[in-house]
Amino acid sequence: MSNNLLKGKRGIVFGALDDQSIAWKVAERVVEEGASITLTNAPVAMRFGKIQELGDKLNAEVIPADATSIEDLENLISKSVEALGGKIDFILHSIGMSINVRKNRGYTELNHDWMLKTFDISAISFHKVMQVAMKQDAMNEEGSIVALTYMAAQRTFPDYNEMAEAKSLLESFARSFGYHFGEKNKVRVNTISQSPTWTTAGSGVKGFQEFFDYAEKMSPLGNATAEECADYCVVLFSDFTKKVTMQNLFHDGGFSSMGMNPSILNL
Ligand SMILES: NC(=O)c1ccc[n+]([C@@H]2O[C@H](COP(=O)([O-])OP(=O)(O)OC[C@H]3O[C@@H](n4cnc5c(N)ncnc54)[C@H](O)[C@@H]3O)[C@@H](O)[C@H]2O)c1
Repeated sequence: MSNNLLKGKRGIVFGALDDQSIAWKVAERVVEEGASITLTNAPVAMRFGKIQELGDKLNAEVIPADATSIEDLENLISKSVEALGGKIDFILHSIGMSINVRKNRGYTELNHDWMLKTFDISAISFHKVMQVAMKQDAMNEEGSIVALTYMAAQRTFPDYNEMAEAKSLLESFARSFGYHFGEKNKVRVNTISQSPTWTTAGSGVKGFQEFFDYAEKMSPLGNATAEECADYCVVLFSDFTKKVTMQNLFHDGGFSSMGMNPSILNL
């Protein structure tokens, strides 16, 4: 169903790995709403993932970029402006990775070199993307930048590990850079705090199934799906949210406001 909410807009979508990825659903939805986009992911993901398939389907150029590399980001953003025929209206940052999580290192036993890598990939990359976009003057006035986050930034979820700190940092970059991008180009910057969602990154977290079921029961509206997250992104990229900025927006079926849901007792 299209309402042409993004007709004529140009965007860059980071993080579509396979058809489970939230970014994959966002890419499909924004194109359905009339946007033209470029797709990007880390060069290594080009080998394992299916991003080219998505690019072919959506008529979107795929431009590899390691989001921790300023050089790659400079190339990505200038090539995107060229390929799309003008400045960018929206960017989705949908990137997360932790070697500590992958290797099952418990929180009190974290490897700190890997931790720095986690922060670089999952959070500092957001600052890098915005810094390069600003330096290249690549964003249109009233553009919109969104990153995906999780509520472990505010509350403790032990198995989420150091990704909790990465998400806190990510959300803080949205507020701080949101000020500068707002003042300079009227660009808004927000994070969407999404429900647990079945994806490669999500299901890599220990005990994900139990946690997914718990959140599903705890939330009066149930967990938000990747498709619903894509709908929310469309709204945030559209002209209907021009004054929403520097916010962390919960998209979680009500989970973040709950104390106790009696239905949890029947788990
Ligand atoms: N799945 C969930 O339960 C959930 C919940 C809340 C928030 N999120 C967030 O949503 C975002 C997308 O994750 P997803 O669940 O769709 O999983 P996903 O695994 O499909 O997406 C993560 C993406 O990050 C990319 N990536 C990793 N290292 C990179 C690098 N150096 N440069 C560029 N890209 C790199 C991966 O290739 C992958 O495409 C992440 O920020 C994640 O933390 C996910």
